[in-house]
Amino acid sequence: MTTFSLRINGHATELAASNRTLLDVLRNDLGLTAARFGCGEEQCGACMVLVDGQPAYACTQPVDTLGGHCITTLEGLAIDGRLHPLQQAFIDEQAGQCGYCLSGILMSAKALLDRTPRPTRADVIAALEPHLCRCGAHVRVIRAVERAAAAMAERAP
Ligand code: FES
Ligand code: FES
Repeated sequence: MTTFSLRINGHATELAASNRTLLDVLRNDLGLTAARFGCGEEQCGACMVLVDGQPAYACTQPVDTLGGHCITTLEGLAIDGRLHPLQQAFIDEQAGQCGYCLSGILMSAKALLDRTPRPTRADVIAALEPHLCRCGAHVRVIRAVERAAAAMAERAP
């Protein structure tokens, strides 16, 4: 059996080579169910994770291509058991209704704030463009990302 190694949420992980998607392996083999299946066609963003810090659609990403890479899912967002400022801001703004879209949105938002700590509203809208929210929570989602950016800027040295 061919195997390969990658890091998932900071943990070295050994996987068997298989003709499967990252989303399938995360959810069904590793119990990491935050990333969700929506469309399976890179059209909704529900499955978004980070690969080496960049947003990536787990629903179409062949897992076999990820040897040596670092994957981050929503489960890896909290720091030492404390919610990431983005997670806290989404709670504070009540940004979401059913929540189905939120795991993916939070990952794209994290990638945005990592590369642009003080984003404009246009930056936030552009970063979240790949994400559909059927509940129409967009305005509160944008506010939450801006709130998190402000909280993180306050803490920055
Ligand atoms: S499930 Fe991956 S983009 Fe919709
Ligand atoms: S909160 Fe329901 S789909 Fe976005």
